[in-house]
Amino acid sequence: MEIQRLDKLDLIGKMAAGIGHEIRNPLTTVRGYLQFISSKEHFKEYADKFNLMISELDRSNMIISEFLALSKNKVSRLELNDLNVIVLAIYPLLEVDALSENKIINLELDRSIPTINLDESEIRQLIINLVRNGLEAMPYKGVLTIKTRHDNQHVMLVIQDCGSGIPQNIIDQIGTPFFTTKDNGTGLGLSVCYSIAARHKALIDFKTDKSGTAFTVSFNI
Ligand SMILES: Nc1ncnc2c1ncn2[C@@H]1O[C@H](COP(=O)(O)OP(=O)(O)OP(=O)(O)O)[C@@H](O)[C@H]1O
Ligand SMILES: [Mg+2]
Repeated sequence: MEIQRLDKLDLIGKMAAGIGHEIRNPLTTVRGYLQFISSKEHFKEYADKFNLMISELDRSNMIISEFLALSKNKVSRLELNDLNVIVLAIYPLLEVDALSENKIINLELDRSIPTINLDESEIRQLIINLVRNGLEAMPYKGVLTIKTRHDNQHVMLVIQDCGSGIPQNIIDQIGTPFFTTKDNGTGLGLSVCYSIAARHKALIDFKTDKSGTAFTVSFNI
């Protein structure tokens, strides 16, 4: 199951690497001209339309970036890092996101975790994707907790929400590329997390019930 999922991710990543570049260049040109034309007095009344076109192009670009992150051959830049430092660095960003929806993010960091080999930008992406999912699953005023822990062999990152949980009938599909239950979802967030975890030789596990979901990523020390 895990191998199958990773092979599928890898194939998608390779395809993306092949066509991503070819699609991005024209997108960049079109975006540039749209911005240039929209700044002209003559087109002022169409400002909304121009902004919409530009944001749609940005969305396409973002999807290509997510695709590119799926390749198994993508090389992670692993360096000894303190997971707490990475969490603290992006916390302000996550907090703004949460507060704008009237939700709260709590930190429970184990200050004694050892440093481990991490690709900082990938771990940032992994945290953002898991936190986004947690926030999206929670009602107004919900509380999400980011924890770090460790034992003798592992450093663990836990993202726990108090949302409505993952329904039993979709659990098998969690992490499958493009699987989404959201109107505006691409269904790539968790796939990206699984592929980042695989490159770190880390494992992702989750527990879910009606009172919420906790995703745990375990890194080897
Ligand atoms: N914390 C969670 N609580 C409840 N359901 C979840 C949670 N995390 C993931 N899911 C379910 O798994 C699906 C896939 O998640 P994934 O992050 O891969 O895609 P997405 O959030 O739908 O879209 P996006 O690509 O924008 O992340 C979600 O649509 C949702 O149904
Ligand atoms: Mg998501």
